[in-house]
Formats: sequence, C-alpha cells, structure tokens
Amino acid sequence: MNTWAIDGGEPLRGEIGVSGAKNSITKLLVASLLSDQPSHFSNVPNIGDRDITQEMCAAVGAQFASKNGNSLQVHTPQITSNIITKELGGRNRLAIMLLGPLLHRTGRAVIPAAAGGDQIGPRPVDFHLQGVQRMGARVEVKDGDYVIEADGLRGAEIHLEYPSVTSTENLLMAASMARGRTVIHNAAIEPEVVDLVSYLQKMGAIIDYQVDRTFVIDGVEKLSGASHRLLPDRIVAASLGAAAVATRGDVFVRNARQQDMLTFLNTLRRVGGKFEVQEDGIRFYHDGPLQAIHLETSVHPGFMTDWQSPFLLLLTQAEGMSVVHETVFEDRFGYVKALQDMGAEVALYDRCLGHRCRFASSSYKHSAVIKGPSQLRSAEVIVPDLRAGFTYLIAAIMAEGKSRVHGIEHITRGYEDLEASLRSLGARIQAIQ
Ligand code: EPU
Repeated sequence: MNTWAIDGGEPLRGEIGVSGAKNSITKLLVASLLSDQPSHFSNVPNIGDRDITQEMCAAVGAQFASKNGNSLQVHTPQITSNIITKELGGRNRLAIMLLGPLLHRTGRAVIPAAAGGDQIGPRPVDFHLQGVQRMGARVEVKDGDYVIEADGLRGAEIHLEYPSVTSTENLLMAASMARGRTVIHNAAIEPEVVDLVSYLQKMGAIIDYQVDRTFVIDGVEKLSGASHRLLPDRIVAASLGAAAVATRGDVFVRNARQQDMLTFLNTLRRVGGKFEVQEDGIRFYHDGPLQAIHLETSVHPGFMTDWQSPFLLLLTQAEGMSVVHETVFEDRFGYVKALQDMGAEVALYDRCLGHRCRFASSSYKHSAVIKGPSQLRSAEVIVPDLRAGFTYLIAAIMAEGKSRVHGIEHITRGYEDLEASLRSLGARIQAIQ
C-alpha cells in the first residue's frame, strides 16, 4: 500500500487542469477493438484505469503508440485472443465491456465472472448478459468464467431495468455491428455514454438518441477507425470544486465544463459555495457561511453518485442538518466511519430519507444525516475505494495536524498527477512509501 502523510489546515488555492474522463477512455479503447483500423484519441488521462484497459486490450491484440502522454493511437488489425485472464479481469470492472468487440470479431468471449474494482455494492452484470442474450448470444458459466458465444449478433428490443451506464455502453457497442435494429429502452444518457456514441458515430455507426432514454441503433457491417478528443472528467472537476469550497479555498479548474455539471453547480449554489464559469474552466471558492441541504444522488441529469462523497465532506462544514440519500449504489457510505473518527457528525440509516428508492427494503445504510459545521481532526485512514479515497485526502487537508492516508494506489486509478496537483494548490503532502 502506498501511504501519504498530510499536514492539514491550509486552504487549497490556485489553478489546476482536468484532462479526459476515466469513464470515457476506458470504453473508447474497448470500442476501438470493433474495427481493424487505427483510432486516435486526445485529451487522454494518465491514470491507472487507462493502463489496465490498455493491458486488457493489448492482451487481445491491440497495439498502442503514444505521441505524448495525453494522446494515444490504438490499432487492432487482428484479435489474437478472445480470453481475458482472471488476473487481468480482477484488476477493475471493465473486462465485461470487451464482450461486444470479441463476439463480433471472433464469435466468442471468455471473461472472468469475478471482477475487481470498487466495492460499493454487489454490482452485478445481469443487464449486460441478458442484453446480449436477447441479441442471440449464448452465455455459460464455466470454471469461474462467462463463456459467451454468438454466430453473429442480431438486433433486439431491450429494456434495462435501471439506466445502468456500463450496460448501456456495452449494448451500444454490441448493437453497432449487429444485424438489424436494436432498441435500448431506459438507457443511461450520461455525458460519458454520449461521448462513446459520438466516437461510434465517427466510426460509422448509426445510433439515434431519443428524448425518453431510448437509443435506436441500426447495425452496420463494418466500422472504421476514427479520431476523438475525450470530454473532460466531470467527476475530477467536481471533486476539486467541492475540495476548494470545503477547505475554504479558491481554485480555478481549467477545462471543467459547465454543461456536464449543471446539477453539481446548482447544488453547490444551494449550499452557499461560490463558482464562476469562465471561458476555459470554472473557478470554485468559499465566501461566507454554508447552509445545510437535502440531496439525492441519481442517474444523469441528476446529482452523480461519484460526487456524493466529496460533497458529503463539504456538508460537514455547512450550518445545520443535511441529508444525503444515495440511490445509485446501495453500499456507498463505507467511508463515513473514517470521517466520524476525524470528528464529522454523520449518522447512517437504512431508510430512504427522500423518495422511495430500489434499496428501500434492504438493510443497506444508504441515507446519511450530517450535522455541521465540524472541525475535523487528523487521523490514520485506509482508502476503501477511488472516490472515497479522494475524499479522505481532502478531509486530511482540512484537518488540523498530521494525517496518514494508506492505499493511495486506489486513488491514482482515477486522478492524474494527484500528488503534484494537490501540492501545487498548497497541500502539504509527503509520499512516505
Ligand atoms: N446494475 C445491475 N445490473 C447490471 C448493471 C448495473 O443491477 O447488470 C445496477 C448496479 O448494481 C447499480 C446501478 O445498476 O445499482 C447502476 O450501475 P451502473 O451500471 O450505472 O454503474 P457502472 O456502469 O458499474 C459506472 C461508472 C461508475 C459510476 C456509475 C454511475 C464506469 C467504469 N463506472 O459504473 O464510476 O459511479 O456508472 O454513474 O463507467 C467511478 O468512476 O469511481 C465509478 C464507480
């Protein structure tokens, strides 16, 4: 485990840039495998999940060339293997995304059933598998792997029980080259999904996007390579924005894009956090007391679940009782214990504090009540997952005294140049192992 020592008590101030979205590059690289021609990506983030995805794609035949750190060419003239090993599949949750390209190019995909990644709920892949089964694929579980086979996928009518991001993306890739028309109802419409659709369209796909969460895809026989610039990472941008306000600082986040963050910005304004949208980014700053609010996470265009933990941390500085109801992942408050140890007053409930959600009759503690403001104190903490990890770093920066944060490698999966960036904003960080 990598550990940082953080000497807190200083506000974050300065300027920082965000590059392309983690949840975009990981799918774009996989989508490039649909074609035997080269694709070129720019604004590519240098993060751990990009490296893992590249390794996974290379293991099935992709060849990479990089002009500089943020630009990447990928070319997969041939699929050389349709098997993802358990070791690779266990590193994050992305192996299942390869099923469309592997089925189209080889008729078979062997993908480990057990995935790695953040433990923020059970995170099943039933929507992915049922979707391709409707498109004619056969799915078996053998020796801990999904063995998926198809003699050509065909278009189908698919209704997702919940607008899941990766299953929508997976089925969009599979449908792009299926025979005939696929209709995906109740689909996810997150900006990262639309980024993938834009790239697929450049490759030659025909994908209509209707107002009621429906994608209509007319399959084509062949896709070509394409060039694509990634959308900026709105999770990183919002995390930094929340951090600026929570530490009573002032940070200009270059490349943060207002249109992808409308709900975040409205919520921040309701709390009393300040922001200024400029041509090339957004300035976030603290100026005056913060107020408690009620907040529910949701699918796009709602308040993202990935914004939840840095925002809850911000709410520990607001006057009064705030409520956060997590409705996307049932088990996403595991990090709260450490914040309580640092002096935050947060109570968790299994009831829905807000509208009745899918987890209403479960025993998962998916609602939180936060009483603020609290002065945080330093602590020694172990990072449980990517987003919670970033929140711990900010909590340590807010706290008086020296904290130690273990498990930094979880965070660098999704945040580029983290140490240098936070240092440039004035954080006193020392990597100690
Ligand atoms: N779900 C199912 N069955 C499925 C798929 C999903 O029941 O087959 C459920 C999940 O259990 C969850 C809900 O649907 O309750 C939403 O899950 P979704 O599929 O939308 O999440 P995901 O695709 O696994 C992506 C991002 C997450 C982000 C969520 C929500 C990637 C690689 N991951 O996950 O990002 O939180 O969408 O926006 O795109 C992160 O970046 O830290 C991260 C966790």
